[in-house]
Amino acid sequence: MKVRKAVITAGGWGTRFLPLTKSQPKEMLPLIDKPIIQYAVAEAIGSGIEQIILVTALGKNAIEDYFDRSFELEYLLEQKGETKLLKRMRALANMADICYIRQKEQRGLGHAILTTRELVGEEPCAVLLPDDVIDSKTPALKQMLKVYEEHKSNVIAVERISRQDTVSYGIIEPEPLADRLYRVLSLVEKPEPDDAPSDLGIVGRYILTPEIFAALKVTPPGKKGEIQITDALQLLLGRQEVLAYEFEGIRHDAGTPLGWLKANLALALKHPEIGPELKEYLSGLL
Ligand code: G1P
Repeated sequence: MKVRKAVITAGGWGTRFLPLTKSQPKEMLPLIDKPIIQYAVAEAIGSGIEQIILVTALGKNAIEDYFDRSFELEYLLEQKGETKLLKRMRALANMADICYIRQKEQRGLGHAILTTRELVGEEPCAVLLPDDVIDSKTPALKQMLKVYEEHKSNVIAVERISRQDTVSYGIIEPEPLADRLYRVLSLVEKPEPDDAPSDLGIVGRYILTPEIFAALKVTPPGKKGEIQITDALQLLLGRQEVLAYEFEGIRHDAGTPLGWLKANLALALKHPEIGPELKEYLSGLL
């Protein structure tokens, strides 16, 4: 069955960005000229996804307004003859078919995904964590969908990370299958470096079969007392194959202030309009 739906999780508090995130969703922080969340939506759409299920929470209304249509703004831009901007605003509002569901308790990523059970239904779905912004020629999710089409198994994105960083990622125990492709033998959420089964860290892109929901339902709270998707996948392993794919592209972690700043710089330096001047400015600072 074709993967038509993508879940994008945006229900977390963003405590790493406090105080800023006290009154503003972190997903709306800008990466150059667009909010972080738009990169995940664009990746999903660019990968052929037809419907997006966005998990939000209290205080996240700005996300819904952003992807909505604003007749007032369009009227204003029309009056001012700002046709280029007007076109951009309309394209943004038409960018994706998005439905929203609220995560009413902060019980972790697994719980956020479980919230979408009825909306996803009995079909495979993709999951994108917007903090992970992936800069690649072919959208990372599209690369993974190709693997899914061939194997019809769960597929998770991985990349090599440094050993001391295992405490920040889900880590897989891999069995190499083909170029960039592994069978997952086990997976563990945020282990200490000495306990990590490899240096392949999970990146926030997943393609999941509908059975994941039954697994999530019985997954007990794990790391940080939260329901972890990594633990649910480990439960699923007994019954289903889970593959890991080392995607081509550069991942930026926009989920921390420093990571967000780095992502802005890396993307801005590549930007045709602002890149050259920024480069000059930065070299003057050093
Ligand atoms: C989540 C997952 C983790 C994964 C990471 C990727 O953790 O639980 O397995 O490696 O995303 O960004 P978080 O960063 O939300 O704590």
